[in-house]
Amino acid sequence: MLDITANTSLYDIQRLPLWENGEQVLERTVAGEGNMNLVLRIKTTRRSVILKQSKAYVRKYPQIPAPIERLEAEKSILEAISDQKSVASFSPKVLHYNAENYLMLLEDLGSGSDFLDIYAGNKLISPEQLSILVDYLVGIHAMDSVKIPASKAMRALNHQHIFHLPFLADNGFNLDGIQVGLQALSKSYTSDERLTEQVAYLGKRYLEEEDTLIHGDFYPGSWLKIGSNLKVIDPEFGGMGDAAFDLGVFLAHLDLAKQPPGYASLVLERYTLPVDPKLVQGYRGVEILRRILGLAQLPLALSLEEKSRLLSQAKTLVLS
Ligand SMILES: Nc1ncnc2c1ncn2[C@@H]1O[C@H](COP(=O)(O)OP(=O)(O)OP(=O)(O)O)[C@@H](O)[C@H]1O
Ligand SMILES: [Mg+2]
Repeated sequence: MLDITANTSLYDIQRLPLWENGEQVLERTVAGEGNMNLVLRIKTTRRSVILKQSKAYVRKYPQIPAPIERLEAEKSILEAISDQKSVASFSPKVLHYNAENYLMLLEDLGSGSDFLDIYAGNKLISPEQLSILVDYLVGIHAMDSVKIPASKAMRALNHQHIFHLPFLADNGFNLDGIQVGLQALSKSYTSDERLTEQVAYLGKRYLEEEDTLIHGDFYPGSWLKIGSNLKVIDPEFGGMGDAAFDLGVFLAHLDLAKQPPGYASLVLERYTLPVDPKLVQGYRGVEILRRILGLAQLPLALSLEEKSRLLSQAKTLVLS
């Protein structure tokens, strides 16, 4: 397999089996923030494209193994989205796929920024943007003729990080290294049997392959603002699954980013497909808990008191 990095020479990029006849590679830059995969923006004599390569590990942390076949799930989902009128404009078209080298060329949506800055706590998603994000979810969840299996290994990996590791009393994370006092705060959650049982139940549901195509990672890092448009990228954790999971994760990140309290009801009112509200709230609670207590930390601007309050609300969401 040809292993591409941010330093791979233009000469070697030119030699990849991706280009049209006579197309010359002119420039390569890192496309944006991202941990899992290699993502470059390549300018050629004809176009600007995004080159994505998955590795058998997390690109930023090569010591952590990760399922390399994630790129195939992403490719299949992006292709299905391109074929569906209601959502096609949200996501990049797959221009070329090279299974042998785990390489994919994507349409370049343009330079923009993701929404990770909303965790700073002083930025609001507009109600219009919120509606657009809900419409995207409705759009993909309603695609009932597709059947794209999720990468089982990716789902298992996510399951570990969402439903299992954050709730182990002795998981080896040093939470005080993130914020002093967080370790002590975590105790009452990791030792709560009723909570961990319900989390385990939700985790089992999450692993089931259901009839709905889900994005699988529907959080501000997957939303891009490009000019006045809103795009959704990176469905590498997606595939057939539980629609309530996408919705619950969505709501959790509105909470973590201190968005207006009314936003959750706006989302649920606009989401017109049938969904079990209890499951949505359960996943929402788990996602809040794991983002505060687990390894996959976010640039949150929350005091220890605010985290304590959110954790307790999250627990109520999981248990009720
Ligand atoms: N089609 C595209 N058009 C324009 N920019 C893109 C496109 N795809 C990715 N990017 C940019 O590259 C960044 C990384 O892409 P992406 O999120 O797909 O990578 P990743 O390695 O899977 O990230 P993560 O570790 O968050 O899962 C995005 O945040 C965005 O800035
Ligand atoms: Mg990704």
